[in-house]
Amino acid sequence: MADSNAKMTQATPQEVIISVVAGLFAPLLAIFLIVQLVLGIQQDQQPDATSEAAQKATLARIKPVAQLAALDASAPKVEKSGQEVYDAVCASCHTPGALGAPRFDNKGDWTGRLGQGYDTLIKHAIEGIRQMPARGGDGDLSDIEVARAVAYMANSAGANFKAPEAAAPAAATVSAKPDPAKGKAVYDANCAVCHATGVAGAPKAGDKAAWSARMSQGYAGLYDNALKGIGGMPAKGGNADLPDADLANAVGYLFAEAGGKL
Ligand code: HEC
Ligand code: HEC
Repeated sequence: MADSNAKMTQATPQEVIISVVAGLFAPLLAIFLIVQLVLGIQQDQQPDATSEAAQKATLARIKPVAQLAALDASAPKVEKSGQEVYDAVCASCHTPGALGAPRFDNKGDWTGRLGQGYDTLIKHAIEGIRQMPARGGDGDLSDIEVARAVAYMANSAGANFKAPEAAAPAAATVSAKPDPAKGKAVYDANCAVCHATGVAGAPKAGDKAAWSARMSQGYAGLYDNALKGIGGMPAKGGNADLPDADLANAVGYLFAEAGGKL
């Protein structure tokens, strides 16, 4: 009896080694599998453009361009719509009728006021009147933004005012520095058909010899001729709908490709 008991409890050195190795193997296998899993997940995510890391990388890549755009003083301010201004600035008083403000979508509140006409209402909204603070209290709003909010509000109460469009930025865009990087796409779509091959005597893009005599006009002279047309070159490359800013960028692209400094 004593003999068999001793056999049950005493392990041979071999058994000890086997059990130790087996005991270690299970956790090691688990760790190995977890590492494989994590690596697999990371690989899966790499081509995913929506992952946070990819978005950060994209932001970092476009950053200098975005900063330039922000610094460009001639870039027109993007003006908010009447509804956007109303929701952000005017609604706090004009929805509940706080301080006696005429309420949105309430004809009764506005009948006496609409008769003053759109211009006077705009003037009162810009300058303020009695409890109504100038520009609704937001001094950053442009006249156009206030005018749009007035139309949005007054039209909800039965008026039919036409809100002003953005001020024509024509002069600003043409005098703004052309952007050859943006011009490449415009060029590909509108100009390459002639300027890639040299059809009809068009100076080829990037062919410095073909451009050298023309370059002396400077970017402005080239832009002018591209706008109005010259010889075999149709006005705006034949696309009358092309916005001036796009044309400027395309000319800027051709100018830069020919070695010009913008
Ligand atoms: C702090 C509250 C407040 C805010 C914010 C506010 N208003 Fe007013 N508004 C008033 C009050 C009060 C009146 C009535 C003034 C009166 O006739 O005595 C009024 C009146 C007006 C009128 C009528 C003026 C007239 O001649 O009858 C217009 C138009 C107007 N507001 C436009 C706006 C616009 C646009 C905004 C947002 C950009 C705005 N308000 C934001 C309180 C406000
Ligand atoms: C139908 C063919 C055609 C298309 C499309 C075309 N061009 Fe041209 N372009 C020409 C030809 C031909 C000339 C040479 C004109 C000349 O000097 O006689 C030219 C010349 C030019 C010049 C030089 C003008 C100068 O003063 O020497 C510029 C700049 C230019 N093109 C820009 C553009 C741009 C930008 C576009 C696209 C928006 C465009 N072109 C599309 C045919 C074309």
